[in-house]
Amino acid sequence: MDYNFTITRTTNPKEKPAPGASLGFGKYFSDHMFMMDYHEGQGWHDGRIIPYQNLSMDPASTSLHYGQMMFEGLKAYRNPQGKINLFRPDMNAKRLNRTNDRMCIPPMDEDLFIEAVKAIVKVDEDWIPTEQGCSLYIRPFILSPEVSFSVLPAKHYWFVIIVGPVGAYYEGNESKLHGSHIWVEEEYIRAALGGTGFAKCGGNYGCGMKAAYEAKKRGCEEVLWLDAKEHKYVEEVGTSNAFFMIGDTVITSSLSGSILPGVTRDSVLQLLRKWGVKVEERRLEIAEVMDAIENGTLREAWATGTACVISPIGVLHYHGTQFPINNEIVGDVSQRLYDTLYGMQIGTREDDMGWIVEI
Ligand code: COI
Repeated sequence: MDYNFTITRTTNPKEKPAPGASLGFGKYFSDHMFMMDYHEGQGWHDGRIIPYQNLSMDPASTSLHYGQMMFEGLKAYRNPQGKINLFRPDMNAKRLNRTNDRMCIPPMDEDLFIEAVKAIVKVDEDWIPTEQGCSLYIRPFILSPEVSFSVLPAKHYWFVIIVGPVGAYYEGNESKLHGSHIWVEEEYIRAALGGTGFAKCGGNYGCGMKAAYEAKKRGCEEVLWLDAKEHKYVEEVGTSNAFFMIGDTVITSSLSGSILPGVTRDSVLQLLRKWGVKVEERRLEIAEVMDAIENGTLREAWATGTACVISPIGVLHYHGTQFPINNEIVGDVSQRLYDTLYGMQIGTREDDMGWIVEI
């Protein structure tokens, strides 16, 4: 379907980061953005690409006060044929609608979402970095500029997509993966059953900042979240999903309702099953992880996410003691997963899973 987005090009293009400059994550943004409105009775309308600019909102806009908003995250890569690769954008479209449903935001046609992503990436394709481990990060989000103090779903929304070149989420992982230090969080929680843990809404991330901030002060890059009720079961690592390889089995938390259904999580599960690795999606007690460290059967652990791709866990900080995993050496399975996924994404490995959408 042709959605006919209008394009207004900037007359004042920005200077791009110099080749080889450290891109960071969320430091640079391209020249344009995608924007579309929703009005009750009219649906999503007026999709347009406009110069990158500030959003002008009334200070009484509902999203600013009550957090009715959502976001997504995906990446674009330049492949060796000079075309652009997206990775499983249909998964982001589906998750967007599950989040929207939870946040009382109107649904969006999946094709419309994917075409909007393609359109903004195409207009700003010169911003796709080609350095090892780098990509164009795509951040779609929805919020409401509606003026109201009623705690009720809005009737007017904006759908916006901004994009920008990024390096690795954990600095240094562009060229060589390293194991991160992770704080096992026993005081704060991320999400409780019945809450919004499975949805990609800002509130989940805002409420996680305190724990991450404390963990950083103690020399850790992220926290390992435990369940909200008993503080006993492993949930996620910071903003990503968590995997543990105990003996020959890879275990990750089942999608119980408080876990974010990551696109990379799903891809990793599919790859492992294809490779014949035993995989379990189930509740995993932190005690089982610690026992496995102590008896030497915890072979590897890693986090998965669009931003962090595959990020090995090198050391767990628990009850005042540091527990190295695999002597802090990046494990074979973590490395193979990274090489396979990133290789498919940049087009240097065959995509035998049908995951790449070429623009
Ligand atoms: C992503 O992996 O795309 C995320 O949303 C994590 C983000 C908070 C950087």
